[in-house]
Amino acid sequence: MSIVIKKRIDTLRKEILKHNKLYYNQGSPEISDAVYDSLIKELRDFEKKYPEYFDADSPTQTVGVSTPDKFEKIKHTAPMLSLESVNNDEDALHFDETCKKELDDSINYMCEPKLDGISIELVYENGIFLRGSTRGNGMVGEDVTLNVKTIQSVPEKLIGDFPEKLAVRGEVMMHIKDFQALNKRMLEEGFDAFANPRNVVAGSMRQLDYRITAKRPLQVYCYRILSISTNALVSQKESLEYLRSLGFLVPPGIKYCPDIGNALRYQKELEKKRESLDYEIDGVVIKVNEMEKQRALGMRTNNPKWAIAYKFKPRKEITRIDDIVVQVGRTGVLTPLALLHPVEVGGVTVSRATLHNMDQIKRLDVRKGDLVKVERAGDVIPYVSEVVKEKRTGSEVSFKMPEKCPSCGMDVEYEDVFCRCPAGLSCPAQLKESVIHYANKDAMDIEGLSEKTVEFLLEKELIKGIPDLYALKPEDLEGFEGWRDKKIGNMLSAIEGSKKVDLDRFIYALGIKNVGKHLAKVLAETFGSLDKIKVSTKEDLICINEIGPEIAASITTFFKDRHHIKIIDDILKHGLELVKKEKKTEGKFSGAKVLFTGTLSISRTEAQELVLGEGGDIASSLGKSVDILVCGEKAGSKLDKAKKLGIKVLSEKEFKEILGDS
Ligand code: IVH
Repeated sequence: MSIVIKKRIDTLRKEILKHNKLYYNQGSPEISDAVYDSLIKELRDFEKKYPEYFDADSPTQTVGVSTPDKFEKIKHTAPMLSLESVNNDEDALHFDETCKKELDDSINYMCEPKLDGISIELVYENGIFLRGSTRGNGMVGEDVTLNVKTIQSVPEKLIGDFPEKLAVRGEVMMHIKDFQALNKRMLEEGFDAFANPRNVVAGSMRQLDYRITAKRPLQVYCYRILSISTNALVSQKESLEYLRSLGFLVPPGIKYCPDIGNALRYQKELEKKRESLDYEIDGVVIKVNEMEKQRALGMRTNNPKWAIAYKFKPRKEITRIDDIVVQVGRTGVLTPLALLHPVEVGGVTVSRATLHNMDQIKRLDVRKGDLVKVERAGDVIPYVSEVVKEKRTGSEVSFKMPEKCPSCGMDVEYEDVFCRCPAGLSCPAQLKESVIHYANKDAMDIEGLSEKTVEFLLEKELIKGIPDLYALKPEDLEGFEGWRDKKIGNMLSAIEGSKKVDLDRFIYALGIKNVGKHLAKVLAETFGSLDKIKVSTKEDLICINEIGPEIAASITTFFKDRHHIKIIDDILKHGLELVKKEKKTEGKFSGAKVLFTGTLSISRTEAQELVLGEGGDIASSLGKSVDILVCGEKAGSKLDKAKKLGIKVLSEKEFKEILGDS
């Protein structure tokens, strides 16, 4: 009997350590929080019942895992503990009862959303941001100071009545709309999409090159003072108000609750609102409000006795994989896709889920016929997060990536974890995706050329490629079901109308691997004509700030391919006029290099475009070459530095006054 128990304890410890690593170090958990919590609970119960198997290294005795070596290690100013989770009213009421009994007093609570990001410690001295570190094992984390410095909402300099020394804890997050925009860009540029905002945040914080982190729109919300040199604050409510007065963002929607009944109502209200929020939350944190009472209740090894995380019902469902198919994308990447028995996940019916790539299939060991958990984050692409292996019958069928492209039959090639069909536009699937991309709103913007229409035109062999679009005549379409004169007329005039197009849109429409909308604009502005881009060398391209060797190679490879050149020539033969958009040099900011800091009432991108439209340039950091610093709210230390450097400083109001009507 005891051997069996010891074996189970060992297995649980190993499993939990593996999942800790995936969650904390790699930011890509394979199991849900609920499954993780149940493993921990099982192990705790065993350890309690069989103390002879105690082990100081058991994951129940430590928080998280040790940090990888690539970042410097930093000891936290105070332990960064975890929270005990509950998932029903009964357990939450039990928590309240236990606290009341222990203190022999009534209790009020501060309730906050449980933000689903990455926990971080921020340290300040004399109001200046000194360092930031991830949670790591709770005692020692990774020094991510440079990465943190790129985050707008982390004040470089505190405002108001700040103490000499302060350490705060917060959550690094990415807003859902920023996440969706980032994923759109990734897909446009031929990369894989991220599964959920939390994974992007984890990946961004682990970047050794902070310039990559700087490109990710991250936010930090602070919810706890870890240590402070002045008199400590009397309640969590007061702490949050104080943090806000110093210039930190605190979690949105926090609520003071005079008793547990109110806290439970808050949990239900927030769960209802969850889908409409622009950030991911997975529960609420209920904290005993008064610090004195928190101190009296004290801590366990891993978590405080004065707080719980009341988790929401998981936004994932179990369903069966009816089949696994392979989709061929525009750039030839083969993506395995699970066809699911339709299931509703968080209000949306899901019938397909991405399995990403062969690596992911191996990691999950997912097979056709498996019962799986399907999750949907702030993303539109649902994904399989776990296989319910206990329910296997033995009839499940393993999946192997095909050796030949399912669309054209060409032998596939492997690049890292990606499997690619090298046939290019002679592969029907890639051709279809390329025509759809060409007609896209951000590319040639041909209205009426939907995915269904493209499929129809290819199937009926009315077109064999993009150039044929321009040769379509009304009589080619007449007589087909659903194609009335008006519809034909509209589509043909949209195609005709697309013949006069901005050069950057045309470059983007060509679908060059790694060249999204932004890079297409950069190429158009730098070279000024398609002919010059066509003959550009890797060296020419690498000279451009935003282009590295990989992107340079994909551009030169694209234009070296004679099929591509023929397609471009054939398109241009139809009389396309590529309009070169001159970079404006005249205007109200003519010749000036402008930098923005602090929070503006309009988005950063909008503000930058206003400057570019008025002949100015945008600076990426504060230095002598900057001419104007525009300060929004909570401008921080850049303002002082700019004054020292003698740089002209404008408030947002003054900036708008200069712009006037424009
Ligand atoms: S308080 C000692 N408040 O939830 C209490 N945590 O396991 C420390 N989290 O890793 C945590 N939102 O990263 C607290 N409003 C909030 C939170 C929050 C998210 C995270 C935190 C921690 C995890 C709990």
